[in-house]
Amino acid sequence: SAKPVLFSGMQPSSDSLHLGNYIGALSQWTKMQEEYDAFFCVVNLHAITVPQDPSELAERTRRTAAQYIAAGIDPAKSTLFVQSQVPAHAELAWVLNTITGFGEAGRMTQFKDKSQRYGSDATSVGLFTYPVLMAADILLYQAANVPVGEDQRQHIELTRDLAGRFNSRFGETFVVPEAQIQQGTAKIYDLQDPTSKMSKSAETEAGLIKVLDPANVTKKKIMRAVTDADGEIRFDREAKPGVSNLLTIYAVLTGRTVESVADEYAGRGYGDLKKGLVEVVESTFAPVRERTEELLGDRAELDRLLAGAAERANEVANRTLDLVYERIGL
Ligand code: ADP
Ligand code: NA
Repeated sequence: SAKPVLFSGMQPSSDSLHLGNYIGALSQWTKMQEEYDAFFCVVNLHAITVPQDPSELAERTRRTAAQYIAAGIDPAKSTLFVQSQVPAHAELAWVLNTITGFGEAGRMTQFKDKSQRYGSDATSVGLFTYPVLMAADILLYQAANVPVGEDQRQHIELTRDLAGRFNSRFGETFVVPEAQIQQGTAKIYDLQDPTSKMSKSAETEAGLIKVLDPANVTKKKIMRAVTDADGEIRFDREAKPGVSNLLTIYAVLTGRTVESVADEYAGRGYGDLKKGLVEVVESTFAPVRERTEELLGDRAELDRLLAGAAERANEVANRTLDLVYERIGL
């Protein structure tokens, strides 16, 4: 097709996506799927680079795919597939490993962070080469655009370096992709620690809003969100990180500006803002939860859908892999 190609993915490493994933990734993806030939991948090969439970992984892979669809990824418009169902990802990653410098891979800050978190005994070579597998994910589809969070910028740089290096050593093969990093509103913070990004790897879940949590759990978390002592509702990321985070979430989910939300609540109490936000989040997530449950209620149908998408992904990916093998004499 004439549309530019877009690739993005998420690890199936929890039972539910969180509000940061929803705002920073999923809701952006659903907007982009019209203008791009989009590949959205549940990257389960990435998920095994850290300690994991096999019975949970299979379930989480389905749940993640179901949440993509429930949030608006249309399987008729986009190729929504599971990474391990396309063997070319692992095969291209191997080839790319052979042109990646050991020192170059060692500079990846996410590896340093994760290896520190899991300790040296649980730090695998797979975790070390995680960014190379990610490069393979993107390059297989000749993607021009990769929408990611700021935390992935270094990995996209590596992907670009590897594509350029392969092209100059072996002949034009890969499109060199651009990272598309959302600015400003894209970063959602933990409700209990509003200077750290909301993440599934937070120490406690008290500040983590999950898409699939029941309404009363989410309500409790929002009503207990950390704010500040001055009592004034206005946006000030430095001085008032908690209130600013609540205003950002409210604004993004309603499609309004932060200023207009702040104006509406000016002179009122934090409790009012939180109650308003509870409603906004619930009206966003209730239909997503419902649709996710529906999809999970018919696993055979969901699996069929994913298998169909994997077929298309395999076709595209194998075209690139065949060319790569030819270029390097395999
Ligand atoms: P986590 O940080 O919870 O492990 P992932 O690394 O799996 O989340 O992120 C999946 C996608 O969601 C990525 O595109 C990432 O940039 C986006 N994302 C994750 N957390 C946030 C956040 N707090 N705010 C905005 N986007 C986020
Ligand atoms: Na992460």
